[in-house]
Amino acid sequence: MKVMLMLAGGLGLGVAATFLPTHQASAQEGCMWEAGLKAYELDEDGITALYDCISDDLAAGYAGGDNPVAAEYRSWGVTATGAAAPGAHSDRMLLTFANDVAFDTYVEYGFGDDFAMPVGSVLAKESFSLRNNGAPRPGPLFIMTKVAAGEADEFDNWVYGAVQPNGNAMRISQSFCHDCHVGFADQDNLGYPASEVRLGQ
Ligand code: HEC
Repeated sequence: MKVMLMLAGGLGLGVAATFLPTHQASAQEGCMWEAGLKAYELDEDGITALYDCISDDLAAGYAGGDNPVAAEYRSWGVTATGAAAPGAHSDRMLLTFANDVAFDTYVEYGFGDDFAMPVGSVLAKESFSLRNNGAPRPGPLFIMTKVAAGEADEFDNWVYGAVQPNGNAMRISQSFCHDCHVGFADQDNLGYPASEVRLGQ
């Protein structure tokens, strides 16, 4: 069994050399981290290793239902150099994909009164974390679609969606998502990846 023990550099956490997972890792093919470690405590190599472990399961899980974005977003452009947490101590690691309509504009990470994403833009954001036992934990796929003016005016013409890790639709409220995203109103409601993983930075 492949066992991986990853630690964030400099945190001074000790690893018990005898730590070996037993029967809990089948779904993740033996990828295990120290129990209790938070994903945001991983360093860049640790995040890459975690993503390598969970990547195939994530995409297969999302695609297991009937959501058309979930079935195709992996063929889109990746908008960051890697997954990242949106801020200190956020439990979830995030990685956003953009369709062809959206990609070039999105990765400008633009802002200002004139900044707007083109109609037809679709953004799909993977999320994942670590379970308390150290196994990778898939999170929902979050989706934003820019529709034509007049179709969703109260949400600046964004339609929000989400897919559970098993591919089933996740019940969400447009206003729940938008109430937070509207905080980025001068970025056409986009939060953008953490600055350290933005392309070309
Ligand atoms: C509490 C605030 C908050 C809420 C609520 C929220 N988001 Fe976000 N969202 C963010 C932030 C911050 C980012 C950028 C962080 C990142 O992607 O690393 C983001 C990014 C995204 C992205 C990637 C595009 C972008 O904005 O750069 C999508 C897609 C998304 N969210 C969808 C959703 C959906 C769907 C919901 C509702 C189920 C939702 N969000 C609820 C804060 C929020």
